[in-house]
Amino acid sequence: MNVANNIDFKSEIKKIAKEKNAVILAHYYQNDDIQDIADHIGDSLALAQWAKNTTADIIVLCGVHFMAETAKLLCPEKLVLLPDTNAGCSLADSADPTEFKAFVDAHPDHVVISYVNTSAAIKALTDVVVTSTNAKAIVNSFPLDKKIIFAPDRNLGNYLNSITGRNMVLWDGACHVHEQFSLEKILKLKQEYPKALVLSHPECKKVILSISDFIGSTSALLNFSKNSVAQEFIVATESGILHEMRKVCSEKLFIPAPPNDSSCACNECNFMRLNTLEKLYFCLKNESPYITLDDNIKDRAVIPIERMLKISQDLGL
Ligand code: 13P
Ligand code: SF4
Repeated sequence: MNVANNIDFKSEIKKIAKEKNAVILAHYYQNDDIQDIADHIGDSLALAQWAKNTTADIIVLCGVHFMAETAKLLCPEKLVLLPDTNAGCSLADSADPTEFKAFVDAHPDHVVISYVNTSAAIKALTDVVVTSTNAKAIVNSFPLDKKIIFAPDRNLGNYLNSITGRNMVLWDGACHVHEQFSLEKILKLKQEYPKALVLSHPECKKVILSISDFIGSTSALLNFSKNSVAQEFIVATESGILHEMRKVCSEKLFIPAPPNDSSCACNECNFMRLNTLEKLYFCLKNESPYITLDDNIKDRAVIPIERMLKISQDLGL
């Protein structure tokens, strides 16, 4: 008999978290049961802000590795747990530190802006980090003629260039989930639901963004759907966000945008979904797996994150 079958994970997680003064932070792309048990759910920016401000001794980051690593960089004295250390990110993996250093060296007079979806090694080569919530405001905080490298997401970079009138040099990376949405299938859904608005994350391809009614980070999509008079939405981002959307607006219809390949659940991030309630329970109980940092880069890597948090605070984000 699997011993795990006898455990009421939800109540045990709550109990141990209280005993150990641990806070459970979850991204909107987590499985529903993890979102339900978390102390806070939010987007990448909110997770970094909660981590920075928490008084807890332990942070359990239910998300992917770069999110937990960001929390650890901000709180090096705290224990930061990640339920499954294989929860990586295809976008973060698309920037190899050695190649990225050569790219930065080839553009010596450029400011380096990196998306938070990067490893600490890339952050250590970065001037300021952004998330999808604050990217536009942070890019705009630089003079229009300032030369900028933006990494690693080419779709977000192209989108930012188009809305800020810049010509940032882009690293050629992408997220395997957001690249998968099917234009044909979304247009077909629009015929079935003519009143539905299309809400898209800026990591989606340009063609998807071009038919979208609203583009924003996960929290921005959530807020838009909450405040909109529309009743139906086709949502082009990881489908985990629909859990909170349906909770907040139970009377509205939320339809996940379909991926190109109908045989897979490609609008779910396979990395995010590696975390389960069972793994959350065991990592909290055993205080492992936990995040460690490379001593040679940690002090440099936190600087652009702190800059981002300061600018966001100044902007009221
Ligand atoms: P958010 O900034 O909306 O949290 O996006 C994070 C992410 O990983 C998108 O794929
Ligand atoms: Fe990374 Fe994409 Fe998963 Fe977000 S959805 S964590 S960008 S792989």
